[in-house]
Formats: sequence, C-alpha cells, structure tokens
Amino acid sequence: MTAKKKKIGLFGFGSVGQGLYDILASSKGFNAEVSKIVIKNADKERTLPAEFFSTDANDILNDPTIDLVVELIDNADDAYHIVTSALKSGKTVISANKKLIAEHFVELVNLQKENNATLLYEASSCASIPIIRTLEEYYDNETLHGVSGIFNGSSNYILSKVQNEGLAYASALKDAQDLGFAESDPALDVGGYDAKYKLVIITGHSYGVFLDPDDVFNYGIQHLSEADVEYARSRNLKIKLVAQVSKVDDGNISLFVTPQFVSPESNLYNVENEYNGVTVEAAFSEKQLFYGKGAGGHPTGSAVLSDISAALYDYRYEYKKAKSIVKYSYSKEVELEVYLRFNNQSILDFIPFTAITEEGKNYVVGTVKLGTLLHVKNTLEQDGAFLVSTGKVKKIETNLSQVSQEAVLV
Ligand SMILES: NC(=O)c1ccc[n+]([C@@H]2O[C@H](COP(=O)([O-])OP(=O)(O)OC[C@H]3O[C@@H](n4cnc5c(N)ncnc54)[C@H](OP(=O)(O)O)[C@@H]3O)[C@@H](O)[C@H]2O)c1
Repeated sequence: MTAKKKKIGLFGFGSVGQGLYDILASSKGFNAEVSKIVIKNADKERTLPAEFFSTDANDILNDPTIDLVVELIDNADDAYHIVTSALKSGKTVISANKKLIAEHFVELVNLQKENNATLLYEASSCASIPIIRTLEEYYDNETLHGVSGIFNGSSNYILSKVQNEGLAYASALKDAQDLGFAESDPALDVGGYDAKYKLVIITGHSYGVFLDPDDVFNYGIQHLSEADVEYARSRNLKIKLVAQVSKVDDGNISLFVTPQFVSPESNLYNVENEYNGVTVEAAFSEKQLFYGKGAGGHPTGSAVLSDISAALYDYRYEYKKAKSIVKYSYSKEVELEVYLRFNNQSILDFIPFTAITEEGKNYVVGTVKLGTLLHVKNTLEQDGAFLVSTGKVKKIETNLSQVSQEAVLV
C-alpha cells in the first residue's frame, strides 16, 4: 500500500514557487504534493487552475490537513508572520528567506524548541549549494578556520559582465533582473545585504554565533568604476563580492562582506555569472570549494525540494556548534587590508587608517579596523567611494592606546 501523500501549503508563486512546483511535478514517486498556494495578487495570470490559489494566509495556516508550510514570498515582514504563526502551531516550515532568518535567527531557533516544530532553510543560503546541512552534519566537529565565498548570484553576474565583457554596470544589472537572478529590491543584492544575511546564517551553523545583521559590516558594488576595474586588471586580479567569516584566534571570529581582490590562485577566481562558490577551510580536511547555482527558480527550488524531503524523514537542525563546549565571540578588533578609491580626498580625514602602503591620485591601500569601517560606512557611501578588501585579516592586540583611539572615533 502506498503511503498517503503529505500536503504542502505554499506561500508565493514567483520565480522560486513556480520553480519548486515544476520540480515537484517532475519528481515521480515523491511523497508530498502542493494542495494550496497563497499569493498576494489575485488578478495575476497563473500557470495553474484558479482553485489552487488564495490570498488568505489562514487557508494554509488554519488548515489541519496541511503538514508542511513552504514560505517562498519576497516580503520578509509578511514572511515573519507566516513562519512564526506556523511554528507556533507546531507545523514544519521550510523557507528560502535569508532576510527573515538572519534578522530573527535566535527567536526562530527558540520557537522551534518551544513548539517542538521544525524550520529548515537550505535554499536561503547559496540556493542550490547544500551548505547549511553540510556545516551542520559533516563539519559538526572539525574546527573551521573559515567559510568564505561568493554568496550572491546577481552581483556576481554583474561583476562578470562588467569585468569580462565590458558591459556598463546599469545594463548588467538590468540583465540580472530580467533573468530572475536579482531580488525584487536589487539594493539587497548589489549592496551586499543579501550576502550578509547568508553570512549571518552560515556563521550560526559554523561557529554557533548568532549575530544581528546590523552589527556586521557590508559594502556593496554600486560604486564600482572603470578605474577600479583597471586597477584590478593591471594586477591580474578580479573583483568579486565576497562574504567571509574566519577564526581569528581560539576564542574569536570575525566577519564581513566586501568587494574583494581575487587572484587566479583562489578557488573563487573562476566562479562567474550567477554561480556561487563557498570555500570551507577546516583544520584537517583543509580547503574545499562548493560550487553551484546561487540563484534562479529551479536551482533554488531544488534546495527547497531537498528540505521537504528531509522534513519527511523528520530531519531538523540541531545547531550543533552552538551546543559545543568550544565557544566563540565576534571580534571587530581586527585590521583589514583595503583599497579605497574616493571622490573627495577629505573623506580620508574621517577614516583612521592604521597603516598606508600605497597611495594614488584618488585611492589609498592600507589597513583599517573592522570596527572603524562600521562607523564610517555612511561617509563612504555618501562619497561614492569604492572599497575592496584583500581578504587579509589581522588580530589587533588590544592595549590602552587602541582603546582610546576607538573611543575618539565613537
Ligand atoms: N529568486 C532567486 O533566485 C532566489 C534564490 C534564493 C532565495 N530566494 C528567496 O526566495 C523567496 C522568493 O523569491 P522569488 O524570487 O521567488 O520572489 P518573486 O519572484 O518576487 O515572487 C514572490 C512571490 O511572493 C508572493 N507574495 C508576496 N507577498 C506575499 C504575501 N504577503 N502573501 C502571499 N504571497 C506573497 C508574490 O505574490 P504575487 O504572485 O501575487 O505577486 C509572488 O508570488 C525570497 O525570500 C528570496 O529571497 C530567491
């Protein structure tokens, strides 16, 4: 006798929702099917009969026959209501919404515990790359030196088109939007916010450290100029938007998202277009690159399908690193090596570099504290400055003079 198929209540039928539906339709023998889809706009033309659709969230949330809630909408605030309501009623929830998860990470972990409910979100971080379950299950004990990579498909697509094909930034962005890689609000992609949300989630699963995204430095690619591209090209480097969390010492980690110079020796050099690449560097397995499509309806839908499948055998995250006896704290007391190209030299008065190693007509290369970068982000943005890190992070041995320097900045 075949088991009764589990019923899925689906929120959202955009790129990923439709992608998931297509995959489910082609996955013969899969023991779950979509029974209701809640969308926002009742008047939009759909590829499925009208009886599938509703605009009332309660048609899923209050339906006791629905076993799994899959949340694939593009509004993190509405998603918060959907996901928390479903968890509170003990349902199993799957989400691809990195903003929602990163901004309410601790609350969502606790809600699962309090309500004996499950929340899975593999698709939220690098879409088709199975990084969260890998960190949770494969790297559950080995010490991680760092996790870094290209976590945002649309900004990587833009950087590839600009650097490899000479396309103007605006047309490359338009192409990324037309191809469905970009978020509904492209500022999330090109500003490094989307990558930062993923980094916050990955940090939770890598080091058991749960951070407020507002406390993590991100700088985007919007102010990229031909001069920056030329600076990199003349040194045989590419500029990529890189998210990076690394172990600074036995008790501390540090993390940030910035454009980064990448050399041909790096795993990330040939990660182009909408592809993502995640490098995990561990004590004994050493460097491993996970490579795959980081955006698009079908690749993202495939990660959602994998979560549905995992949920069917009662898989849940154990947050193993958070339970480990090895504890880490987040330190901003590190120096980053950066290239800073500015429009007005006067902004340098506001950025206390700890050392300057190269100076050009409108740029400097030097080291600056991560904490300082968080303070001066608005100044950099207002100037239209472009900042690229080299990825080098050095711990600062805190002493009194450094503490007072920080105090002056605040
Ligand atoms: N696209 C990707 O490549 C990708 C990759 C990884 C993760 N994600 C994540 O996946 C999620 C969905 O992204 P997407 O690209 O599929 O978005 P999308 O194409 O813009 O579709 C969004 C869907 O959400 C629906 N919606 C919005 N607010 C709603 C509400 N309050 N109640 C019910 N439905 C609502 C919309 O309804 P209407 O159809 O009526 O407008 C639409 O069907 C987001 O969290 C995104 O961050 C996307």
